[in-house]
Amino acid sequence: MQTDPLGQLIQEDQFVGWVFQIDYESATVITNDVWKTQANGIPRNCFLLAAAIVPGEPAGEVILLRVMGSAPLPVEDKSAEDKLIGLKIADLKNRAVKAIGQEMDNRTKSEIQFGGIACRILGTFYNQNGTLRLGADIESYLNAAELRVYCPRAAALETIINYISPERAIATAEEAWRMGFKSTLPRFPIGTVRFTSTDRLHRGDAARHVIFNLNAVDFLSRRTGVFGMTRTGKSNTIKQLVSVVMRTSAQSGHKIGQIIYDLNGEYANANQQDKGSIAEVYPQNTVRYRIVPVAGFQPILNNFYTQTQEGHATIRALIEAARLPRSADLEAFQSIAFDEPRQQDFDDEDEWAKQNTRYRRKVAAYHAVLARAGFELPKGFQIQFEVNSIVRKLVNPSVDPNDGMTATQAFTWFDLARQIQEQLYSSGNDPWFDPDTKALVNMLLQKNDQGAYIPGYRLLQPFKDYHSPHRTTDVSVEIYQHLVNGRIVILDLSVGDTAQRDRLSKRIAQHIFQSSMAVFSLGKHPPHIVIYVEEAHNLIGRNDALTETWPRIVKEGAKARIATVYATQEVSSIHPNILANTENMFVSHLNNENEFRELAKFYDFRDFESSILHTQDVGFNRVKTLSNPFVIPVQIDKFNPDLEKRRAG
Ligand SMILES: Nc1ncnc2c1ncn2[C@@H]1O[C@H](COP(=O)(O)OP(=O)(O)O)[C@@H](O)[C@H]1O
Ligand SMILES: [Mg+2]
Repeated sequence: MQTDPLGQLIQEDQFVGWVFQIDYESATVITNDVWKTQANGIPRNCFLLAAAIVPGEPAGEVILLRVMGSAPLPVEDKSAEDKLIGLKIADLKNRAVKAIGQEMDNRTKSEIQFGGIACRILGTFYNQNGTLRLGADIESYLNAAELRVYCPRAAALETIINYISPERAIATAEEAWRMGFKSTLPRFPIGTVRFTSTDRLHRGDAARHVIFNLNAVDFLSRRTGVFGMTRTGKSNTIKQLVSVVMRTSAQSGHKIGQIIYDLNGEYANANQQDKGSIAEVYPQNTVRYRIVPVAGFQPILNNFYTQTQEGHATIRALIEAARLPRSADLEAFQSIAFDEPRQQDFDDEDEWAKQNTRYRRKVAAYHAVLARAGFELPKGFQIQFEVNSIVRKLVNPSVDPNDGMTATQAFTWFDLARQIQEQLYSSGNDPWFDPDTKALVNMLLQKNDQGAYIPGYRLLQPFKDYHSPHRTTDVSVEIYQHLVNGRIVILDLSVGDTAQRDRLSKRIAQHIFQSSMAVFSLGKHPPHIVIYVEEAHNLIGRNDALTETWPRIVKEGAKARIATVYATQEVSSIHPNILANTENMFVSHLNNENEFRELAKFYDFRDFESSILHTQDVGFNRVKTLSNPFVIPVQIDKFNPDLEKRRAG
């Protein structure tokens, strides 16, 4: 025998009135204070169900409504059209009074206050061979039909908010399979239904809270936006998502790497307000990075001596940001290219050898400048390059730069070399140094081409803390490996210079994207990675070209199995293309209409205008996920470190 999936939606004791007006878009309901009270109130934005049913008989279909506000009850003596409705209302009122009168004989007719409720139609539930289905509209309506209205709670409400279409359920299973998971991905509770800020009636009894589940599959390889003003619970939502991923990974046996761009340093450290940071909850699984070296953190900073190109690019950006007075020498330094010549690019062996020697010498001069400016040398590091025997003998026969020199030896060598070169080639012909090396030697010796004093290497001194002598591998490569191994990487970007922060952030993101895309291009499966970006307006700008790193990751990351989660208080700061491609959205409070308008373009957030603009409750979100057909208002659970630690085992 087939079950009736519609039956459990209708809860007779939650009857609140009748529909007295309906069209394709909306319905108006008449109710009264007695029934409202019996149903524990009808908060704005709550769901109502309307059905043409005879109690005790199975319903044909059930219309799903969202309460939008109050509506006037038309009175009889207006237009002809109103007159008909007026008559209907008078009849409904009489029946209500009779019904209530039977239940409570001590009530008088005048005590029963009637009112109208304006609702938007969200869809129609119907029974298809025993399966519950929801159409996104209504197929037809009859003005004369009597639609009884119920305010669903408990199991019925749970069915509504966790409804997933059979098609979506199949797609979900297929997606999970395509992502390499052996079975459908689990769903995890992350909050409970909440309609309004004041929740004394509909949420007064915690035991009756209706649980909202997040489908892990909705969120892997997808985009998720977390929007809301500061301190309305965005970071808390992100922590819940991190936990969902950890649990998905544990249950499915698949590694999923997570990286958090932590601009406020709140995930890395346990702070006073929030005991239990991500790092503390998952100590075995978390690796923390910081720009400024601290115990317990890996340095994000690269080693400028071994990562020449990267180090020079950093210094260049810092010089630009510092707005140092322009000079020919500085310009020359800025425009040096540290592209290492590659043998395969040369047809001529000798030409390659020449270019390579020249490159090594340039790098050596650069290292000498760094050392002079106080950039700490890695342990045992030597400055080394090739010089022909003629030059060697002329400069200093007892030192061979090819054997490696200390920083002081290198300084002395370049100083002598320059003097000798000037003596030999006062005409300026046949210089030993190519223009780049010459510019570097000028910096090193604090002399310009004419021999006048220039600040030279001293200009670089303020930037020496951006370099770390301890790193041997590129930080991006190291981080990607952690992600492949399914770890949580926290980039604590709360300290350090913003230009540096943005550059490093972008570079790491770029490396993740390129590495995963490379795997994808080979027809193989890239690892699962989730990137969380806090204060996203700082990193992903509305005006960024879509070819820039961040927009590309957000737009194209899905095929490389990269999910992005971005949090910001400025919806309007996110590139419209990115917003349009965001499958999941969590929205707490926004404090201005401009921001709301950006959001209202998507899904049915428009229904929540008043609620989003006016309620400031922490964790009170309106949530649209890929699987849910409409926005659901949810109070996100507070991240509970003890619970999470138990879950993590
Ligand atoms: N769902 C929630 N329930 C209860 N308290 C919360 C919830 N979400 C956040 N909080 C608390 O509110 C404060 C601000 O939350 P946070 O997530 O840091 O906000 P945001 O990231 O939007 O600035 C924190 O002290 C946090 O513990
Ligand atoms: Mg935050």
